[in-house]
Amino acid sequence: MSTPSHLLSILTEGVKINAMRREQRDTRCFLIKTRRIWAAPILLGANAFFQLAKAPLRSILSTEQWQNWEVECFLALHGPEGFAASTHGARAVAAEELPGTNLTDFLDAGRLTPAMAAAAARELSRVHAWQAPYFDGGWSHGDAHAGNFVIEARGDEWRARIIDFELRHLAALPAEERQLDDLVGFLLDIVGRIEPSHWLPCAEAFVSAYGTASLVARLPERLLPGGTAPYGQMWRRVQTGFLSRAEYERCMEMLLASAVFRRPEEPPAKAAPPHPFVPAFATAQPSELVAKTHSATGMPPSRCS
Ligand SMILES: Nc1ncnc2c1ncn2[C@@H]1O[C@H](COP(=O)(O)OP(=O)(O)O)[C@@H](O)[C@H]1O
Ligand SMILES: [Mg+2]
Repeated sequence: MSTPSHLLSILTEGVKINAMRREQRDTRCFLIKTRRIWAAPILLGANAFFQLAKAPLRSILSTEQWQNWEVECFLALHGPEGFAASTHGARAVAAEELPGTNLTDFLDAGRLTPAMAAAAARELSRVHAWQAPYFDGGWSHGDAHAGNFVIEARGDEWRARIIDFELRHLAALPAEERQLDDLVGFLLDIVGRIEPSHWLPCAEAFVSAYGTASLVARLPERLLPGGTAPYGQMWRRVQTGFLSRAEYERCMEMLLASAVFRRPEEPPAKAAPPHPFVPAFATAQPSELVAKTHSATGMPPSRCS
């Protein structure tokens, strides 16, 4: 249990508020996400929790507003590449299937690599640049855990695309606060799900690939347990999957001591010791995994598979 979505799962005790199905339209494949009729009280409960926990996001209670937000975000972020989305009847959204595999599949199989984490960071950096009318400023996701990225192999590189616009940050918060929360959300989602020796190089790659130095400079205040995070410890613990405090602190201290947080003018205090961790994760090449994906070209898939 490590993300707002997972939290919703706790609240609903495994009952899914949306039904997903795939649908072929001419040559293209769409994911149809339908909000179930009884979702409203569950979403109300989730929002009550978010408010109590001082979490900076909410689910969108109105089905129509949720549909419009999903479509608006999908089209703004993926429409320029030719992917389509629309509302579908009174309770559903149809979004064209993006090529690749859910990043959480790699994470859960112990196959997340630094290159994949870097691809997720590049995608966040890209989408954070959208000046969204709703926010009257830079866009943010609100639930940027690994399961909300679809990742596609491109030769030896990876391309990630963000999905699932079910939860939304509070619009009153400045863009920097919301976007910082997306970075924290991703790091805390993965920290509780892989070994520290595996997490560290992935977290380092994620931070260094994000690229906006002003935001990265503010990460330590959000990641340290004693930092000035504007939301409560309970909310943090949900995000980390209830990792023990000692383990959490150990991971964060390793990350914050790493070179990605050292300013260029600041020389290392002494010669860096050999890296204590051998990256022990499976090193499948993207080309091996491409068979699992729908496309390595970035073009929409031609058929539902
Ligand atoms: N446009 C899409 N392209 C590819 N896969 C998708 C797309 N939309 C959803 N999925 C897949 O369906 C899963 C559930 O969709 P998501 O929008 O994240 O709903 P939920 O609210 O249930 O998390 C995703 O984790 C992803 O694997
Ligand atoms: Mg999701």
